[in-house]
Amino acid sequence: MCGIVGATSRTGAVLEGMIEGLRVLEYRGYDSCGVAVADGERIEIRRKVGRLSELEKLLVDGALSNARIGVGHTRWATHGKPSDENAHPHSDGSGRLALVHNGIIENYLELRKELQAEGRVFTSETDTEVLSHLVGRELARGASLIDAVRAALRRVHGYYAIAVMANGANGGLVCARQGPPLVVATTADAAYLGSDVLALLPYTRDVVYLEDGDVAELAPGFARITDIHGAARERAVRRITWDAEQASKGGYPHFMLKEIHEQPDVLARTAFDRILSTSGDVSFEHGDWDDARLRALQRIQVVACGTALHAGYVARYLIEHLARIPVDLDFASEFRYRDPRLVEHTMALAVSQSGETADTLAALRLARELGAWPVSVCNVMGSTVVRESQATILTHAGPEIGVASTKAFTAQVVAVFLLAVRLGRARGVLSVEQGRRLLDELRCLRPRMEALLAPHSVERVGEVARGHLDAKGFFFLGRGVNFPIALEGALKLKEISYVHAEGYAAGEMKHGPIALISKGMPIVVVNSPGAVADKVRSNLHEVKARGGHVICVGSDRESFELADEVIEVPQTIEPLSAVLNVIPLQLFAYHHALARGCDIDKPRNLAKSVTVE
Ligand code: F6R
Repeated sequence: MCGIVGATSRTGAVLEGMIEGLRVLEYRGYDSCGVAVADGERIEIRRKVGRLSELEKLLVDGALSNARIGVGHTRWATHGKPSDENAHPHSDGSGRLALVHNGIIENYLELRKELQAEGRVFTSETDTEVLSHLVGRELARGASLIDAVRAALRRVHGYYAIAVMANGANGGLVCARQGPPLVVATTADAAYLGSDVLALLPYTRDVVYLEDGDVAELAPGFARITDIHGAARERAVRRITWDAEQASKGGYPHFMLKEIHEQPDVLARTAFDRILSTSGDVSFEHGDWDDARLRALQRIQVVACGTALHAGYVARYLIEHLARIPVDLDFASEFRYRDPRLVEHTMALAVSQSGETADTLAALRLARELGAWPVSVCNVMGSTVVRESQATILTHAGPEIGVASTKAFTAQVVAVFLLAVRLGRARGVLSVEQGRRLLDELRCLRPRMEALLAPHSVERVGEVARGHLDAKGFFFLGRGVNFPIALEGALKLKEISYVHAEGYAAGEMKHGPIALISKGMPIVVVNSPGAVADKVRSNLHEVKARGGHVICVGSDRESFELADEVIEVPQTIEPLSAVLNVIPLQLFAYHHALARGCDIDKPRNLAKSVTVE
């Protein structure tokens, strides 16, 4: 949720780089932010509610510009409202240390009472402040910073990524991970840490992902990793192959728009190398995808959240249709608490862009404990979900910065299509010829996506989206593989334009929600030729008869004749229509939000990666 940076350098100032690091991490949380730096004996903390630009105003005096060690934070509030006092870094009032934290300390109330009883004074409502006091208490007793942090962490329950700096003889820079991600790197003259590798890319491409229970001590040119008891831990250095440029806006006004436009390339990167044309099959790199294992599967249990869950719905449709394996699907947050039962030979399939979503991770772990084979579709190599899966299909969407997920969703849908084909081939449901036809059609999507992203097509969607700025609410309807696309279209719109939008299975409308339709209400109907196209057309009639203003998205020409407005999408086979139909819906949300003056890349109340429950 929150973004964390830290740096220590022998030769240069660290503040400017940390601010740049926070800028790229702002997508993780942006209700307040702060930095702490040490200049000689002094630790200076500056923090502010609001965006990074507010913090920068506090730094214009240049007083902290030469500091060689520091930590920084951009926050998404969990304990305590967004305010200057609750913003990180936190201290213990001694002026000796500063600490930033992402996560939740579950026993903080109990610890807070204990520390208050010793006369320690708290100045915020956060759970984080107990950590600063626990570390401060150990430092005051003469412990080194690394020992003080380890001792503090042995007292807490919960999950965290933290970075702590202290001055004086037993000072330094230390970070630790139990849950939320943390990455460290060293260069000849410096050491860096960040909650996302993006913050480290300006310095190096060789990074170390900390694992749960790791505590890292950093000094210029040096990093040592131990566990919370001090036992050494070895961690491999990983080379990042994409560069910071790929994570910048590249001339687009917003990351979301840039990411929407990247989708033809994302399709190619995620799919094309994996297609085995001769055998009409697919090969995956990470894990054991043998026919025997896939043939033994009895069931697939998908766990995911939000947009990733919508890709899971597509997976259900595709896998049941193309591989004939029953698929169950749950919100990860529900699965983990509903005392689930799994049959033998179940694949637990976690779908996640970040690979760090707390609920998805917990659901995957639970499914594994219940005997399932843990598999993931994930965009971040080295993420916790990937590390805890026995097999992974990496989506090669590249870094996704816009909070509203777009290209990562498309990549997930493409990945689960590949999975469905692989399963269908392994289990003999699909012949070589059928496999080939499906995969050939997948290849053909690229030019069709490009057509959808051509300026005139984008402008057409913009025109329609701007035509409904006064609407109080929207329905998005679909069936079959386009039902999750309706859900996704509605989610995108509500996330970034704050308009109420409901995604619904078109056939369910008459069981209640149709009562909400009033004259002129915009109803986006997603329909492409296939098994349910005529059913959707009947549902379209139903909403039109109640005065709904129908905007038809898709390639079903017969629906166009019934609609008030049309956004035409190139045709493809029914199982792949989801990949194309979602693109105009992403653009619809984008243009609607733009016209309403919303902050597209940083919508209110949201964060990119939800690493708390
Ligand atoms: C919506 C969105 C969220 C995420 C959800 C899961 O645009 O991005 O709904 O899909 O928080 O995140 P990941 O995929 O990182 O597990």
